[in-house]
Amino acid sequence: MGEAAIIRPKRGTQALAMHERVNESWESAETIPVAVRDLTKVYGTVTAVDRISFTLAPRSTVALLGGNGAGKTTTIAMLLGLVVPTSGEVRVFGADMSRNRYQVAERLNFQSPYVDLPMRLTVRQNLTVYAGLYGIANAIERIAFIAEDLQITALLDRPTGKLSAGQKTRVGLAKALLNAPELLLLDEPTASLDPDTADWIRQKLKEYADARDATILLASHNMAEVERLADRVILLDSGRILEDEASDVLLETYGREALEDVFLDVVRGRSWREARGDAAPARRAS
Ligand SMILES: Nc1ncnc2c1ncn2[C@@H]1O[C@H](COP(=O)(O)OP(=O)(O)OP(=O)(O)O)[C@@H](O)[C@H]1O
Ligand SMILES: [Mg+2]
Repeated sequence: MGEAAIIRPKRGTQALAMHERVNESWESAETIPVAVRDLTKVYGTVTAVDRISFTLAPRSTVALLGGNGAGKTTTIAMLLGLVVPTSGEVRVFGADMSRNRYQVAERLNFQSPYVDLPMRLTVRQNLTVYAGLYGIANAIERIAFIAEDLQITALLDRPTGKLSAGQKTRVGLAKALLNAPELLLLDEPTASLDPDTADWIRQKLKEYADARDATILLASHNMAEVERLADRVILLDSGRILEDEASDVLLETYGREALEDVFLDVVRGRSWREARGDAAPARRAS
């Protein structure tokens, strides 16, 4: 048996085995940002998320990859306690998000360009409302600081609904960072941005994660973004975890130079075992 086979946990148990030390104290660990076990969400005939299990270690940045409809947004919504799981469990800093999400609400935040802030309020009003919700004591200073940092000071007194998509994204990120969250859930944070602004936002996220020792879960279709920010990739397909591995290990195993190619390999049906040469390919070259 080769070395890789020893390191590599058996498929199906990999998500848990990879973080065994974290999982030993699964139930109560307040220091573990996210622990998900057998999480499932069924909408009528669609199983959006299908018995997924994983944990996020403190200070890690993990990408949630998958094609359209793979279950990324549903997973994030369950982590936030906004969507009630059909079965399984979500713990965020030890709190069961179905029951006790208010216990930890101040320690996390999220951003999605698909979730609008109230349109008629100005940016400043929106940020002030959220500062209140998060119980931020020095709200005026905090808003001024974040606005400066994200270059939205000039937008503060404009109605949020009248901003461009890219401006809204930066305002959304300002909202997400207001409470200096230890856990940041990002659903395609640069989806509507031009390449220059997207790059700038990624740099900001990296700086933030380093300065705050924050944990980030990032759903993205942008492989350059994933390669730049994430040290681990969870690959979802039809609600299931197909791979959960360090980015460089994935590249090496699939013999690829870019995660995009690994992604295409996986969603087109090339399994880990095939990539390793452990099994006959499902599709023969003819
Ligand atoms: N509220 C809902 N009611 C019914 N079906 C839903 C609902 N939300 C999501 N779904 C379905 O669940 C599946 C997963 O959707 P989800 O939005 O989580 O995918 P995604 O990975 O975020 O996709 P995308 O990359 O397109 O954003 C899809 O088939 C979707 O149609
Ligand atoms: Mg989505």
